[in-house]
Amino acid sequence: MCEMIYMSNETVINKILNHVLKEIKPSDKEYKDTILKINLIISSLKEIVPKDVEIKVTGSVSRGTNLKGNSDIDIFLLFKTGTTKDYLEKMGLKYGKALVKNKSDSYSIKYAEHPYVRVFLKSLNIKADIVPALKIENAEQLATAVDRTPLHTIFINEKLNEKQKDQVRLLKYFLKNHSLYGAETKTSGFSGYLCEVLIYHFGTFLNVLRWSSNLSNNVVILLNNKEDDKATLSENELIKKFNSEFIVVDPIDKNRNVAAVLSKESISRFIVVSRKFLEAPSLDYFYGLKYSNAKLKNYLKTFIEKSGLDIFSLTVNLPDKSEEILWPQLKKSSTIIEEHLKKNEFDIYLSLQFISDKKGVIVLLAPKQEKRTRMFKGPGVINKKGTEQFMSSHSKTLGFTFLDSRIYSLDYVYYKNISEALSSIKKNRQLYFHKDINLSNIKISKNKFSSKITNEIAYELMKKFYI
Ligand code: UTP
Ligand code: MN
Repeated sequence: MCEMIYMSNETVINKILNHVLKEIKPSDKEYKDTILKINLIISSLKEIVPKDVEIKVTGSVSRGTNLKGNSDIDIFLLFKTGTTKDYLEKMGLKYGKALVKNKSDSYSIKYAEHPYVRVFLKSLNIKADIVPALKIENAEQLATAVDRTPLHTIFINEKLNEKQKDQVRLLKYFLKNHSLYGAETKTSGFSGYLCEVLIYHFGTFLNVLRWSSNLSNNVVILLNNKEDDKATLSENELIKKFNSEFIVVDPIDKNRNVAAVLSKESISRFIVVSRKFLEAPSLDYFYGLKYSNAKLKNYLKTFIEKSGLDIFSLTVNLPDKSEEILWPQLKKSSTIIEEHLKKNEFDIYLSLQFISDKKGVIVLLAPKQEKRTRMFKGPGVINKKGTEQFMSSHSKTLGFTFLDSRIYSLDYVYYKNISEALSSIKKNRQLYFHKDINLSNIKISKNKFSSKITNEIAYELMKKFYI
């Protein structure tokens, strides 16, 4: 007889979490290494910046919420109140760049609300962001969005114990594995700080998932202070104030929604992924999708065959700028192109955008469509003038007819299929793309792509359709 072993879901989940935590928690060696690097960079900075500029370590490393192998150092240079934004920006860049002294070292300029420097000190194996900000005691004094960051560090270190910080790591890793981690526009997912605040509210990874899997209303509001802050605004006032139905008030700033960038798509995905994991917890599901080049190649081929859809790609060359600037431009072009196609009565199921090797790619998924004519809707015939105008402006009609009380014209289409419509976009390209995008080499493909692009499209599609 075989022995029946019964384990409750909670026991299974705890086993999984213990196992995962061992993999994602930085080792003692990594921890000590990071401290060493931080001390090195701080002493270099001390020689560069004047005494009244405070040097502060921030980000997940300063809070003990970083994942193994991600000990990227975030250092803030805090300027005294009264410093102008222009000055702080200029000096921040200057001090950051001054860290680069050796031939093997380099830097790049990154953009948050304002530009800052990322240095790569190869000889010391250090990658660090040097971000200038205004030194503030409370949120009322803040001038730029990044000024809050040092206050986040103080808050999290005060409120979360070691165990809870590990729970943050689990949440970050779970979200990462399901393509939900990251506040950049392309992901529009959970920032590291949002994960920290969720653990502050709910205590454990499991509780966060229980909460999200049981959400039964589109309106979600977590107020800034659990204990004593009675809501002074009604639900509707909060929705209006933050222009969102998903609100996680920043514990250090009642005017900030920590979840402001979280998209509805990400929220929906998180809810379903949470439910699935709690119903059938497994290590496999915790790790999410596994990719391999072979798997990706077959995926796209099978996807096209089974779905019967056409997949179109538009590829443009991008200037040498950061993804944080270029991706939203690409997304905007994609939206305008989609609108143009829809105006011409083409059905588009889905679009996606990605950047790869200085190229921007827009992908459209659509059912196969070929047309000669379309029904063009006119006014109600009661409207005498409108009807006359409609008839005279559709002089090339194949005929007018009436559906209910309206007049319609059966007109020839401008474009017989999506490929034709996309070619016209290519001709009038400057209407559809940001002026910074070099349009000399715009390429349109349908269902067949270079092997690199094939893999990238498959990867993006897999993420879109994975729960
Ligand atoms: P990071 O993006 O480096 O996040 O921003 P992180 O918390 O260190 O997480 P990981 O482990 O690197 O992924 C550094 C700090 O900047 C603030 C937060 O305080 C964050 O900890 N920040 C960043 C925000 O408040 N919002 C954002 O969207 C991004
Ligand atoms: Mn970080």
